[in-house]
This record gives sequence, C-alpha cells and structure tokens, in this order.
Amino acid sequence: MSDVQTLSASLVDEVRSAADADTLEAIRVRALGKSGTITALLKTLGAMSPEERQEKGPAIQGLRAAVADAIAERKAALDQAALDARLASERLDMSLPVGAGAQGSVHPVSQVMDELAEIFADLGFAVATGPEIEDDWHNFTALNIPETHPARAMHDTFYFPDVDAEGRRMLLRTHTSPVQIRTMKDAEPPIRIIAPGRVYRSDSDATHTPMFHQIEGLVIDRGIHLGHLRWTLETFLKAFFERDDIVLRLRPSYFPFTEPSVEVDVGYSIEKGRRVIGGDPTGPNGGWMEVLGSGMVHPKVIAAAGLDPAEWQGFAFGTGVDRLAMLKYGMDDLRAFFDGDLRWLRHYGFRALDVPTLSGGVGA
Ligand code: DAH
Repeated sequence: MSDVQTLSASLVDEVRSAADADTLEAIRVRALGKSGTITALLKTLGAMSPEERQEKGPAIQGLRAAVADAIAERKAALDQAALDARLASERLDMSLPVGAGAQGSVHPVSQVMDELAEIFADLGFAVATGPEIEDDWHNFTALNIPETHPARAMHDTFYFPDVDAEGRRMLLRTHTSPVQIRTMKDAEPPIRIIAPGRVYRSDSDATHTPMFHQIEGLVIDRGIHLGHLRWTLETFLKAFFERDDIVLRLRPSYFPFTEPSVEVDVGYSIEKGRRVIGGDPTGPNGGWMEVLGSGMVHPKVIAAAGLDPAEWQGFAFGTGVDRLAMLKYGMDDLRAFFDGDLRWLRHYGFRALDVPTLSGGVGA
C-alpha cells in the first residue's frame, strides 16, 4: 500500500471513531486545515512534473475527498445523536394532569364573563364585540344622545385629540352600548347578542376605576315586548346567582336609548350574617339592590342603525361585570381587581380547568 493509501485508511478510521464534535474538528484541522497533512500533500502537486502529477494527483485528490466525505458523514451522525439526546431529555408530556404546584388562576372578571357567555349561549345569544376606541357617533349620537345631551357630560369621556375620516371625534368607549349599533348595522335581524368588554370613564374611587367592564345585551325581532325582557333577565339572574328564590323589581327609569326604560333591582337578604342575592327582600335586613339598566330599544336607535322600527322591535340591557363579580363572590374594593396583586388573585382567582357549564354549575 502506498503512503497515501495508508494515510487515507488511518484518517478515515480515526474520523469514524471520533466520539464527539470537538474530536472530529481536531482531526479535520490536522488533516485539511491550513497546515494539515493533506493540505501539505496537495501543495506538493505544484512542484511536480506533469507526468508525476498525473500519476500522484488522483490519489492525493482522492485522499482529500475520502477524508472530507468521512468527516461530513460522521458530523451528520454526531449531530443527529445530539438532537436525539436533546429531544429525549426535553420531552414534556402534555397529557400529564396539572400538578398540585400549578401556578396561575382565572381572574374573577374573566370567570364572570365566561359564566355570562355560558348562560346566554344557552338562551341562544351569540357573543359580539366592538372596538374600545370608538367614535362619538356610535358611542353617543346613534344611541340618541345628541351633542347637547347632558348624558354626554355625565359619562366623563376620555376624548382623543383626533377626528376620523368622517370628522367624528374619537374617544374611549364609555359603555358597551355602541356594540348594539354595530351589530344592528352588520347583522340581519332577528338578533340576540351579548357584548362583554372594557369601557372607560374618567372616574376613580373604591367603586369606580377609569377602566371597568360591562356587558350589553340586545334582542331585535318582531313583536318583542317588556315581558320578554323580564323573563330573560330573571332567567339570567337565577342562573348567574345559582338560586331560584331571586325576585326582580322593575322600576321606571330613563336612558336615552330605550323607551320605556327600566332599572332592574334584585332582592337580597342576610344569611349567616352576610348579605346575599336572593331570599326575601321584605324580611328583616332584606332589601333591593340595583343590578341592571334596560328597556325597549328606542325607535330612533333602531332607525339610526339602518333598520325599520315599524318592523323591528327589541330590548336591551347593560350592567357592570366587575360589580356582578363583587356581588356574587363577595369582594368589596373594585380597585383590587386591577392591582395585579398575586395574593388577591390566589385568594379570589379561579382554577383554570374549572370551565363554567350550566350542567356542572356556572359558579366556582
Ligand atoms: N349604557 C348604560 C350605561 O353605561 C347601561 C345600559 C342601560 C345599557 C340601559 C342598556 C340599557 O343597554 O338598555 O350606564
């Protein structure tokens, strides 16, 4: 065997038994690097006579190719083995149950929104959404709150300096009611939707935060009347507070976007020293608590949204999600909802895997 063949055989052997990437790289440098053995052999080709070069050239080039191929092959094998090892060590079994040390919980506002979606889905309501950055036409004008209306001042609106392409003033929506307008404009009646979401008002104390959550409800169909409204709200409140002894009181009220307008009170009583929704409001320490604003959608609102009020009627309601959470789960300071305090969340948060269902109980 010539020297070149011996060198080739021993280098290829060495490459094949290289145990790791570093050893392999050292062999490569020693053979094919700038001052490597094969590189040195290749350099001798230049000084050879053409005949000698013709004789030895193919062997030396063959040696270079054989070693380079062996290195590439070994490198691929080592890379694959390293990947296999990593995949084996980093494997996560996604089917394992969440352990006792599970972190994270569902915020009460999210929990209540899930509960509301579940209850209303059962009644045939879809969930609708709208933008939090609104224009004053959707937020006010279309809801029968014209420029000069005192309700505009009462809403403590956050305005943007800009107007949109149609010259409408932009603002942070002060209520979820503009979703009524957007839904009526986009969908064909009959309509049954709820619209939960964030709303904003420049207001802050123990029961008001500049951002809070509301839920809006809207039904548009033919021949809808106050009886439908009452039944729907009663069914909803019984399911939400998970009691059958819930009594409602509808009080005449005023909202620009409904006619007639009613405020809905729910009876409370004292049980085990605690005020709870349900029971006898006329009993000792019992009473009424306002929970919802509602009414028959004003014909002007139906017309503003592009429907014919002679054909379509409906009812609407709106309330605060944070307030519903406070009433159901007994929290007393709204500001704590948005502090992000882990101790509060651990105390009031809900287990992520407890999905509210009507059959399993919508509460936690
Ligand atoms: N948008 C009202 C508010 O922010 C709440 C409300 C009252 C909504 C009556 C309604 C309704 O849909 O019919 O205070």
